[in-house]
Order: sequence, then C-alpha cells, then structure tokens
Amino acid sequence: MNFLSQKRILLGVSGGIAAYKSAELVRQLRAAGAAVRVVMTPAATGFVAARTFQALSGERVWSDWSDDRSGMDHIELARWADRILIAPASADTLARLAHGRADDLLAAVCLASTVPLCVAPAMNQAMWGNAATRHNIALLRERNVQVWGPAAGAQACGESGPGRMLEPDALVRAVADSFSSERLAGVRVVVTAGPTREAIDPVRFISNRSSGKMGYAVAQAAREAGAQVALVSGPVELDAPDGVTRTMVESAQEMLEAVLAEVSTGCDLFIGAAAVADYRPASASARKIKKRADCTSLDLQPAPDILATVAALENRPFCVGFAAETEQLQRHAQKKRLGKGVEMIAANRVGKGLGFETDQNELLLVWEGGSQLLAMDAKTRLARRLIECVADLYRHRTKHQDFAQDHAENSA
Ligand code: PMT
Repeated sequence: MNFLSQKRILLGVSGGIAAYKSAELVRQLRAAGAAVRVVMTPAATGFVAARTFQALSGERVWSDWSDDRSGMDHIELARWADRILIAPASADTLARLAHGRADDLLAAVCLASTVPLCVAPAMNQAMWGNAATRHNIALLRERNVQVWGPAAGAQACGESGPGRMLEPDALVRAVADSFSSERLAGVRVVVTAGPTREAIDPVRFISNRSSGKMGYAVAQAAREAGAQVALVSGPVELDAPDGVTRTMVESAQEMLEAVLAEVSTGCDLFIGAAAVADYRPASASARKIKKRADCTSLDLQPAPDILATVAALENRPFCVGFAAETEQLQRHAQKKRLGKGVEMIAANRVGKGLGFETDQNELLLVWEGGSQLLAMDAKTRLARRLIECVADLYRHRTKHQDFAQDHAENSA
C-alpha cells in the first residue's frame, strides 16, 4: 500500500551498530511510497557505506559538510522534508540535538527545519539509563521531538536491557501515523479536483490547465486528518490517494451529478478545488465538425455551478470553494464567497507558472470576519495547512450551531 505516497522523509543515520537496519528502513519507506533522502553523521559511515543508502534511496547521500556542495544544502534539505527521522539516534546525536548544536550536517539540518522531528534511539542500555541521556531525552520531548523506542532485549555488546532500535516495520508505521491527526475524525468530506472537459464534437473539447494536484492533495490531507473522503475528479493523470474513494468524470454536468450523489449519501464538508468550466458548447455535435474555409463560431451556454448548487441545498454541508484569480485576490475571493454562499474561499493567483500544473502554490483563505495567507509551499504541505484551518472553522461553526440548538430547545 502506498500509504506514504508523496511524503518526503529525511532519514538521519547516526553512528551505531543498528545503522545496518536503516538500510532496510529506507527500502520499506520507499515501498510505502515515500521519497527518502539520507543524511549520515561521519560516525555512521564507519558502520554502513553511503553507497548502500544511495542505491536504496535512489538519491545522493550527504554525510559531512563537504557534501554541502551549494553551501545551502542543509537549508534545502530542511525545506524539502515533510518529516525528519533519525534512526538510529545515538547518545551523542541526541545530546547534539538537545543542545542545539550545528557542527555536523545532520544536526544543522535539524536546527534549520520546522517539520516534526522523530528519533529512534539505539545505544548500550547503560548509556540509555545515564542521567545525561535521560536529561537530553526530557529536553527533546519538551520541544515536541517524538521519541520512538528504544526496545529492550539482547544487545550487540552482549548486555541486555533497553537500547535496541525499533524494527524498520514499526518505524514505518510510526512515520505513517505521524501524518494522521484526528482533526476531521468521523467527518464525511467530498472534494472535487482537476479540470472538466466540455465536448464540442466527438474529438474536441473545451478544458483548462488543471492537473488535479491541488485537489488531490486536499483529498489526501483530509484523509490524513481522519475524514472519510470521496473524491470526484475530472480527467487527470494522478492515482487516487490511499483510502479515498474516487469517481472519475468528464464534464461539469457529470461532475455535478457525481457530487450530488455523494452529498445525498452524507456529506459534512464539501471542498470544490476543481477547475470547472464556466461555459460549455450549447450543443455538442454528434459528428466531427468539418473544417471550413471561412471563420466559424461556437455558441456557449453557462455550465452548472457545482459549488453554488451544493451551497444552496436544504441540508447543505459546510462549503469551501477555491478561487482562481489573476488579480485582486482578496476582493474577488470575498465576492465569490458571498456570491456562492459558502463559508470559506481559498484563493490562488493563477497565470504563467502559477496555481495550475505546478507543484507549489500559495493560498489566501477568506471567511466571514477573517483571512489568512498560507505562504508558497508544496501543494501537499499547503493542503495540510488548509485542512487544519478548514477543520478549525468547521469545528467552531458546528460547536456554535450545537450550542444555539441546545439553547433554543432549553428555552422552548
Ligand atoms: O489542479 P492544479 O493544476 O493543481 O491547479 C489547482 C487550481 C489552480 C485548479 C486550484 O487551486 C483552483 O484554483 N481551483 C478552482 C479553479 C476555479 O474554477 O476557480 P473559479 O474561481 O473559476 O471558481 C470558483 C469556485 O467555484 C471553485 O471552487 C470552483 O470549483 C467552483 N465552480 C466554478 C465553476 C463551476 N461551473 N462550478 C463550480 O463549482
């Protein structure tokens, strides 16, 4: 199962006999769909060759400052990663992290990173029990570093006790779990993504540049947040995110019908990220239209507005729309929010190299009485931040509604 698809894991390997297990860890992370980059401490290279990790990760390996070719690799690596996992994390590496050192490449990457840091300690049981290590672990936990393990058992040094690195499969599961939150647990979400195609004749259509990347990232982020997700997608070249049910459609009319079918079976939250046609040919020719010597024209009529239709339903879900704009984001976004009658609009600037097709995006979120800019980031990460904001607003509204209902019942 590709439960880590599109996740970027930076694996730090520090010096210890358990480093041999990290080779299998890379293999399993990749088998789960993750992209993996490995940064070794100089001590780790005495246990496993960098080439082993290079072959298994399919990427170059960084092990000391001389590998920081641009002088900025440590920053780039920190920006690239969705998670940093250090396995094995030696007593020395834990001490460096606890004290904010940046004197090896791995420690510098950790210091420059803003994403969750997870460590899988591995060391002799007495080193693990030493007051200095206990203190370092407590410091790291205070800073929300996730400490996975160690397991207890027979050790390479012949002793027995806590200090064994967790097995690769347990670490892969822990990485996967670290991406899921319970923010949308039990919430049924319908997401639209991709373009629509409006037929002109059997071989031609009107469409747009949407790749589906943004909408698919939103569906995946909602799933990771614990929601039950149905994705209604226009024609794109992407695989359905794991655990998400998908319906493929072509035209705006088909997308509307698929969305209404999903909403009728239960939907708490609707997110319209699809680039749906505003206009479609008034009639599609059953036969291929022949080329003519002179100019010709096409009669267009409005396509159904899916977002506005869902927002106007009697038992409507909480609705979030997108807005693709070339200028005046805030103004157009507010206008669209009111015009379509939805709770939130996520507006993005579109144009050459912006919004459509790219892997990165920036979103301005607007809702009644508030707005927030989600700065330029990978669409996968941006989608997670969007889902956090949507979940907060959704929870706030539903809590408010429940309170109002209780109040009305109690005063009746
Ligand atoms: O797919 P990517 O390549 O990753 O690109 C992402 C994106 C730029 C397509 C995405 O971020 C985005 O902006 N999607 C909405 C595009 C759009 O149609 O914007 P709009 O401003 O025209 O529409 C406003 C809202 O109404 C949108 O939620 C849209 O889904 C909805 N709509 C529009 C027309 C229509 N007929 N029915 C609708 O439901």
